[in-house]
Amino acid sequence: MKITEALEIEHELLRNMIEVMSQWLTESVATDKLRERAVMLQVAIDDHAVREEEQVFVPLAACSNTAHELVNLMEMVHVEVRDLFDQVANPARDPKEQLWTILMLTTEHFTKEETGVFPMAEKLLGAEFLEIHNT
Ligand SMILES: [Fe+2]
Ligand SMILES: [Fe+2]
Repeated sequence: MKITEALEIEHELLRNMIEVMSQWLTESVATDKLRERAVMLQVAIDDHAVREEEQVFVPLAACSNTAHELVNLMEMVHVEVRDLFDQVANPARDPKEQLWTILMLTTEHFTKEETGVFPMAEKLLGAEFLEIHNT
């Protein structure tokens, strides 16, 4: 399996978590419970984002100026999502608005990666480079 395929499968798993979080938000789960559960989503999203940055963004950005610009846009979203999760963790404020923004931003971002970044990575880096070697 290629790393881009593995990342797409992770998107599917994360979309399920996002769906459940949006249900909790509409069901008005208590604020402190939302904050606790948001940490689990944060860990899962960040684990994915770090793997994506190391294994796709770094090599792809070195391929061309266009690829570099696209990677920069994607990384900006990773940074923004990390910042929003930091705000969610702040007990002095209501986390709901930031959580809705995270869910919306992340959903849009996954689609952009699947339709733009991953196909570009497969074209420029090649299947052999992206293949996951279990050694
Ligand atoms: Fe990403
Ligand atoms: Fe991703």
